[in-house]
Amino acid sequence: MTHPQAALALKALADFWADMGLEEARVLQVPRAAGGARPAGPTRQTERAAAGTRPEPKRLNNNPIADARRLAAAASTLAELRAAIQQFDGCPLKKAAKNTVVCDGMFDADVMIVGEAPGGEEDAQGLPFVGRAGKLLDKMLATIGLSRQENVYITNLIYWRPPGNRDPSPAEMQVCAPFLTRQIELKKPKLLLTAGKFATQAMLGTDDGIMRLRGRKLLYRQEGLPAPVKCVPLLHPAYLLRRPEDKAKAWDDLRTVAAICDELGVKRDAAL
Ligand code: URA
Repeated sequence: MTHPQAALALKALADFWADMGLEEARVLQVPRAAGGARPAGPTRQTERAAAGTRPEPKRLNNNPIADARRLAAAASTLAELRAAIQQFDGCPLKKAAKNTVVCDGMFDADVMIVGEAPGGEEDAQGLPFVGRAGKLLDKMLATIGLSRQENVYITNLIYWRPPGNRDPSPAEMQVCAPFLTRQIELKKPKLLLTAGKFATQAMLGTDDGIMRLRGRKLLYRQEGLPAPVKCVPLLHPAYLLRRPEDKAKAWDDLRTVAAICDELGVKRDAAL
């Protein structure tokens, strides 16, 4: 093992398995290289800076879903869309939230991850998947040469923390949906990964359980997209923290993701 990125991926894999009692991952092989700079994420600093100058949010009418649709359609870049979501007042969760949590990672990434909703740490930092589950997600991605610093874009179904981390309600998901579909239209990901039951069911419009759907090569369809997008549901990292014995399933699913990335020509940092 000579390549530093391969060493990092191996370390991530060892960490991924660590609480299963495996001290070292002895699976694998091989390095590859990639590069890229990271655009500024929606940090608390940028939100604070924006707060001083941004105009009052416009109430377009009394229908928040229609407002969300119009604001989303008016955004012609991901940065504009992020600003529009930050200004949107139509989701009641915003009142109790410290921050609007829109996205993290690379605007030009081919791989897009959709999670459920921000938790406490995400609400505090204004970024998705930065708590314990997010750290595990980063390790999972690193085992197959993916990361939010290089080649992944991360968002959620909803942009404000539900109190007490309760499940998002159908109404909350519905009001935020126009922003998610617009993110997909503007981003044009080659591969969508849904994290957990909620994101998977909402994105794929199914009631099937995550244990049935995880790791399957599915298609996400959306009006206006030139073609369906390949989609693989994953076990949610928060679930894996509670049930580390299911990490073997997650590892199988990650290898499926790696294989699809290679089929699609998605650049990975190191192939395990
Ligand atoms: N869980 C999610 O689904 N999203 C986050 O951003 C954090 C935890």
